[in-house]
Amino acid sequence: MSIHTPKIEKKVTLSTIAGMKGVEPITMVTAYDALFAKLFDKEVEMILVGDSLNMSFYGKPDTLSATMDQMIYHTQAVCNGAKLPCIVFDMPFGSYLTPEIALENASRVYRETCAEAVKIEGGKEKAEIVKALCENGIAVVAHIGLMPQHVRSEGGYKVRGKDAEDIQRLVEDALVLEAAGAAIILVEGVKAEAAKAVTDAVKVPTIGIGAGNVTDGQVLVWSDMFGFFEAFKPKFVKQYLDGAKAIREGIEAYRNDVKAREFPDDEHSY
Ligand code: KIV
Repeated sequence: MSIHTPKIEKKVTLSTIAGMKGVEPITMVTAYDALFAKLFDKEVEMILVGDSLNMSFYGKPDTLSATMDQMIYHTQAVCNGAKLPCIVFDMPFGSYLTPEIALENASRVYRETCAEAVKIEGGKEKAEIVKALCENGIAVVAHIGLMPQHVRSEGGYKVRGKDAEDIQRLVEDALVLEAAGAAIILVEGVKAEAAKAVTDAVKVPTIGIGAGNVTDGQVLVWSDMFGFFEAFKPKFVKQYLDGAKAIREGIEAYRNDVKAREFPDDEHSY
C-alpha cells in the first residue's frame, strides 16, 4: 500500500541526502530536459541526468556514444526546469579515463551547469579518480554493480552479487570508493543480498536500481517508468504510466480531427 508523502519544499543538497540514510528513503529519477524536470521538481529529492538519454532520447543501442557536450546541454536544460532536487551529472564513457581527464571534464560540469555531483561507473580501480575529484571540491556518486558503460566489453548487462565472493568484491569496491570520498554509492543490477551488504557496510547513502528494496534510496529511468521506452523493459522497472499508449492515442485523435476538418473548431480559432 502506498502512502501520500509531502512534496519537497526546500532545496535538497548533498548534506540533506547524507542525513537521510537510515531515516527516510531517498527518491531519484532521471530527467533529460526542462519540461520533465519541472514536472519532477517538488516530487523527488534527486534528479540524475543519466547517459541513458543516449538510448531513450537519441535512439542509440547503448550509452557509450554519449558525449560531454551532449550531457552538458541536457543538464543545463534540466537545471532550467528543476530548482529543488539535488542534480547529478552522469559522466559519459571516456570522460574520466585518468584523474586529469576526469578533473578537466568534471570542472566543466560545475562551471557550466547547476549539477551538484558527478557520477562515475567503476569499482575500487576508480578510487584514484574519485579521490582527485573530491580533493578538488567535486562531489562524486560512485556507480557499482552492473555498469551500463561496460556492456560491450562484458557482452551484455550482467546481474552482479550472485555469490559470496562477488558480494565481497562489491562491498570492498564500496568501502574503497567511500574512503576515496564518494558521497553516494549507486548500486545497479545486483541481488538484494549484495545491495544490503553494501548498504550496511558504508556510512554514505546507497541508491539502488534493480537492487531490491534494501538500499537507502531508489532511482528509475523516467522513460522506463512512464512507459515511453519500448526497446526493452528490464525486470526491475515498475511502469507507473503507459506513456507510449497515451501519446499514440493523442496523436491519432489529432490526425483524425485534422483529416475530418474538426480541428481547429470555433473554440480554437481567432
Ligand atoms: O544513465 C542512467 O540513467 C543511469 C541509471 C541507470 C542509474 O546511470
